[in-house]
Amino acid sequence: MSDERIYLDHHATTPCDPRVLEVMWPWYAERVGNASSTSHAFGREAHDAVELARQQIADALRCQSEEIIFTSGATESNNLAIKGLLQGQRQKRHLIINSAEHRAVLDPAKRLKREGVDVTILPADEYGLVDPQSVEEAIQPETALVSVMAANNEVGTLNPLDEIGNICREQGVLLHSDATQAVGKVPVDLSQLPVDLMSFTAHKLYGPQGVGALFVRRRQPAIRLTCQIDGGGHERRMRNGTLPVALIVGFGEACRLAVAQQEAEAARLRELKERLHFAIITELDGVTLNGHPEDRLPGNLHLSFAGVDGDALMSKLDGLAVSSGSACTTADPEPSHVLRAMGVPESLSLASLRFGLGRFTSEGEIDRAAAIVVAAVRQLRNL
Ligand SMILES: Cc1ncc(COP(=O)(O)O)c(C=O)c1O
Repeated sequence: MSDERIYLDHHATTPCDPRVLEVMWPWYAERVGNASSTSHAFGREAHDAVELARQQIADALRCQSEEIIFTSGATESNNLAIKGLLQGQRQKRHLIINSAEHRAVLDPAKRLKREGVDVTILPADEYGLVDPQSVEEAIQPETALVSVMAANNEVGTLNPLDEIGNICREQGVLLHSDATQAVGKVPVDLSQLPVDLMSFTAHKLYGPQGVGALFVRRRQPAIRLTCQIDGGGHERRMRNGTLPVALIVGFGEACRLAVAQQEAEAARLRELKERLHFAIITELDGVTLNGHPEDRLPGNLHLSFAGVDGDALMSKLDGLAVSSGSACTTADPEPSHVLRAMGVPESLSLASLRFGLGRFTSEGEIDRAAAIVVAAVRQLRNL
């Protein structure tokens, strides 16, 4: 970012990479075609562009292209996975989730509960982690699905999906993962990972807003989902509606780029994150790190500042875009449900900041961000 403001809110959304915009642009400006109208060349070209993007995504995640279902984003993918699976079940009417999930998982589960599905909400530990043992203990003969996020969107903690997936496999239960914050940031290999359904979205990996995907395993086991929107039979009849060609083309390229440079980018972000953390804790006392110290997203730093008012802190961060530890920014802020689930005291949780570093974050920005935060906290503590 070139202006004076500093954007450290990459968990909320990422800027579209110029290389992504470049491949999208012709589909807005010069080319036209509905990917389902393949009776003419325009439609066939649009279809081919969509299928190329589907293949790019499948290659990046090491799955089959037919296993990628395009949606409008991760919220829709989560809804399709969870409701689409449970609504097709007559006998198995039990769902297991956990308290640190995003609202896009908690809310579909809540709706299913109102419709008579038995829902178990597992606790998260002090790092926001889901204990595989607790999953094993919660599984019943009626359990249809377990849903565990790959990476927490607030504190960045990475869940042990491998272990949880193996437990689910042994018990004959399907595993869904909301991997919205993980794809492109940490390795995700669906040829190895025992996950059956996985949600993700383009705008968290330097692609456009408004397009996402759901991975739906086709073999061992073959999964069918009840579509949530009835229509023209698109996306293997699991998600209907005309596909947004430009967005999908951008999503494919964004995914390809993110996975190709994942390792190098993760190393760079980890270094920058350490620099930011160090700069803050060498200047300030009473700062605690939230989330797992090691098993976390490379670009995530989540800190609580003792003895300051969270709202006042946010208002002093002039030109610095970070996210607060409260669930909303109304006059009566609520602590985030994730920090509450982790047992962070309310006063600390309201005085927390989430720093999300990204592809275009520079060292200079990190140094300026640290100086802004240190000055704001000092001022509020009257130091
Ligand atoms: C973990 C997680 N799941 C789901 C979503 C929703 O994604 P989308 O904006 O693509 O609907 C987000 C976005 O904040 C997220 O962080």
